[in-house]
Amino acid sequence: MFEIKAKDMRGRVGVLKTNHGEIKTPNLMPVIHPRKQTVDVKEYGADIVITNAYLIYKDEELSKKALDVGLHELINFDGPIMTDSGSFQLSVYGDVDITNKEVIEFQEAIGTDIGTSLDIPTGPYVDREKAEEDLEITIERAKEAISYVKDNDYEMKINSVVQGSTYPDLREYCATELTKLDADLYPIGAVVPLMEMYHYRDLVDAVMHSVKCLPDSKARHLMGAGHPMIFALCVAMGCDLFDSAAYILYAEADRLLTTRGTVKLENLNEMPCSCEVCCKYTPDDLRAMDKEERVQLIAQHNLHVSFAELRLIRQAIYEGSLMELVEERCRAHPMLLDGLRHLGEYSFDLEKYDPRSKKSAFFYTGPESLKRAEVTRHLNKLNEMDKRKNLVVLPTYTKPYTKHLTNSFNELFVYAKDESLSEDAECKIENGETDFMVLDTPFCLIPLELDEVYPLSQSDAPRIRDKMAIEFARDFLIDFAEDYDNVLIHPNVLEELELDYIEEYNYPEEIKFEKDDIKKLKAIADYQFGNGAGDALFTGKIKIEKSKKTGKIRHVYDKNQIIVNMRASDSFLILSKLGAKRLAAIEGMRNKVMIDNSVESFARDGKSVFAKFIKDCDENIRSNDEVLIVNEQGELLAFGKALLNYSEMLDFNTGQAIKTRKGFKD
Ligand code: GUN
Ligand code: ZN
Repeated sequence: MFEIKAKDMRGRVGVLKTNHGEIKTPNLMPVIHPRKQTVDVKEYGADIVITNAYLIYKDEELSKKALDVGLHELINFDGPIMTDSGSFQLSVYGDVDITNKEVIEFQEAIGTDIGTSLDIPTGPYVDREKAEEDLEITIERAKEAISYVKDNDYEMKINSVVQGSTYPDLREYCATELTKLDADLYPIGAVVPLMEMYHYRDLVDAVMHSVKCLPDSKARHLMGAGHPMIFALCVAMGCDLFDSAAYILYAEADRLLTTRGTVKLENLNEMPCSCEVCCKYTPDDLRAMDKEERVQLIAQHNLHVSFAELRLIRQAIYEGSLMELVEERCRAHPMLLDGLRHLGEYSFDLEKYDPRSKKSAFFYTGPESLKRAEVTRHLNKLNEMDKRKNLVVLPTYTKPYTKHLTNSFNELFVYAKDESLSEDAECKIENGETDFMVLDTPFCLIPLELDEVYPLSQSDAPRIRDKMAIEFARDFLIDFAEDYDNVLIHPNVLEELELDYIEEYNYPEEIKFEKDDIKKLKAIADYQFGNGAGDALFTGKIKIEKSKKTGKIRHVYDKNQIIVNMRASDSFLILSKLGAKRLAAIEGMRNKVMIDNSVESFARDGKSVFAKFIKDCDENIRSNDEVLIVNEQGELLAFGKALLNYSEMLDFNTGQAIKTRKGFKD
């Protein structure tokens, strides 16, 4: 019932299919009060809503009507409706007079699209014993609900709520247990108190530990989250749905939501946005109105701001600028910034979900950007790469570096990485034995051969470096230098990073970086596909065709047979049949996806691969990667572009996983 259309970080633009139509995610479900609702949320942009089944059940008149005419007519909404179960009332009043079974039966009977079992929302910071006790009941009830729904062939889809208080391991345990049940959606519960207290750091832990153990193929709903200020952060962590009564509760308290926080009408000199309400009225107009009319208008504004933010987030995912948006939004409040900084600790996990290439450039917006997935990925790659004997480190200058390079550097100093380097030792630098790299924020070192590859080229950072960025680069360089015999560093870099150098040294006269297209191609291939890919791909009588306009490499041939094309936007290599064959022949080649033998002929015909036929897949695969499609015997069938990462490919049973470029008919 859920498909992914675009990805950025753990965020996804998806489509959720229900019995009352499809909706785009990330999305917000405004809370509808079954009796007191006055705001027409559909008119203001709601595609899906949530209401409370328990409140309907408890109200004799409503209950009768709901059973009679159905929930959609009762609340006058013809799109998808989710219902909550009374768990919230349970958490407030300590008790509810309905059983788990009864609430499931009732939700089906009134025609809910997505129902919820009677989970126990365990608050934050409770005793571990209490959290464990509650959790066992939550899991038991989830099991009971699902078997009930399945046994009775219910039409209703079902939520299984992740609990576990503020214990990361309990969140993981709960998510793991619920995943086994194969529910339709996975809400993350009991986070409202964390948000009310501004404990965003703990919110990050609760969400990250939950999503880590939830299936990628199911939508996740952050229960009770409705402030647009936190949407971007939560989407980046993998949340697909939000719900909240904030739009109306805040309106009743004369408070207006904005992506920078909440503002009180009494303090407003200017209206905060350019929605219909903000354009038509002044704060004085609103203050002069009678309460009822004012609440309507503020609620309209609140919903507008929320939906506008979700549109912005979905657009950011399409273009790959979600983290830039998150970093911007998290500057609205110091505690949100705390949450963002804490998210940096999850860089390893986020990297697995982050596409390797995106439409938009990487912007460094502050020290938090040092922990971004793209940076973690690049530094891992640098550590993995085959190193030559010597390293030359050059200062940052205009990108792409090789285009603006002055060819020789006679002003380099030997970095004194260890005391054993004697002053009269001779530094022999030969070109073939030297890695040339540019010092950069936040990617630390950029090999000159990779100076056009995404995101190393398609990135920008302030020219005035902050202290954290300098320290970050320094720490990395000191470790990295260990693997080289000689490290020569430009004086500007030595000065900025405060590194020691050996003054009286027998320096080579001139050090030169010579542009070499084949070396560059091999470096890109190794970076993209793993060490050894370059040597395997580029053998024979290599012929390189460049763009007349830009001078960039476009096509690479062995005699007349094309091996790869180079994509202009990110300088990644796009395989041809010959390229795919050469890569597939490498022992231990990553980037392979094994599909079921029953669909072998479809792949050979060049048809796209559906996720449900994927048997196995290399864990290095990220969406947008070029991948090799093989059968269960490991024979190459086709090659194409991954639309999902490895774990999504294995988890999804619907939708496309690989857009096949070409198949091998025999
Ligand atoms: N609404 C807000 N938090 C929760 C929760 O933890 N469980 C349920 N069922 N509803 C909620
Ligand atoms: Zn407005």
